[in-house]
Amino acid sequence: MMTHIFDDAQQTAEALLEYMLELVNESPDRNFHIAFSGGSTPSMMFKRWASSEYAGRTPWERLYFYWVDERCVPADSDESNYGVMKRLLLDKVPMREDHIFPINGMNDPSEEAARYERQAREQINQLNGSPAFDIVLLGAGDDGHTSSIFPGQNELLTCDEWFAPSINPYTHQKRVAMTAKAILSANRLVFLVTGANKREVVKDMLSTVDRGPASYIAHRNKNAELFMDVFASGYNK
Ligand code: 6PG
Repeated sequence: MMTHIFDDAQQTAEALLEYMLELVNESPDRNFHIAFSGGSTPSMMFKRWASSEYAGRTPWERLYFYWVDERCVPADSDESNYGVMKRLLLDKVPMREDHIFPINGMNDPSEEAARYERQAREQINQLNGSPAFDIVLLGAGDDGHTSSIFPGQNELLTCDEWFAPSINPYTHQKRVAMTAKAILSANRLVFLVTGANKREVVKDMLSTVDRGPASYIAHRNKNAELFMDVFASGYNK
């Protein structure tokens, strides 16, 4: 896995924005279908993206946004991955409504996973029966989870579905998750991980032992890229 290390979370977020903008702007004749994870880490990136420095360089009309996972909460909840991006970014930039595909946190998770997969099958090019999202952006929890695939939920690592119901085992919050099958078929798979509390999960991701879903995924996509700060890298002893 290619690693990119920066001095702090903001510089890491900005570097990832530059990476994505370079990608979309070097292919001006095509659309990009990008799936985003939630949690707190991407929020800084969404805030910076809404600034004129980045929003002004973004070809919004060629972007289509999807979610890697969602918590089963209303969109106006602070817990909603879609809701957080909407408030920090989507409400501030000229993104077409019909290019934004939220997972509906108010639907039954099993039904919503099936609906979202049907929609993805209509929207996303496929490669050997899996979706080839242009970019899938993942985070990693300090317990080793990614997407909403938590340690021990191995069926989400091996199932044939692209999206499936999940549950946070600590809070019992219901979720909808992109599975390993869909994650691993992304054209570009990018992790954004910052903070000293992620040091162990980063170590696992850079090892050869599958200690959890994030390392399982990282070990099975040789082109995966990891954007992290020095605190997550462990280089700042
Ligand atoms: C979610 C995310 C999840 C997230 C990690 C890291 O919905 O929670 O998709 O996979 O990326 O939990 O979250 P933090 O950025 O909050 O540490």
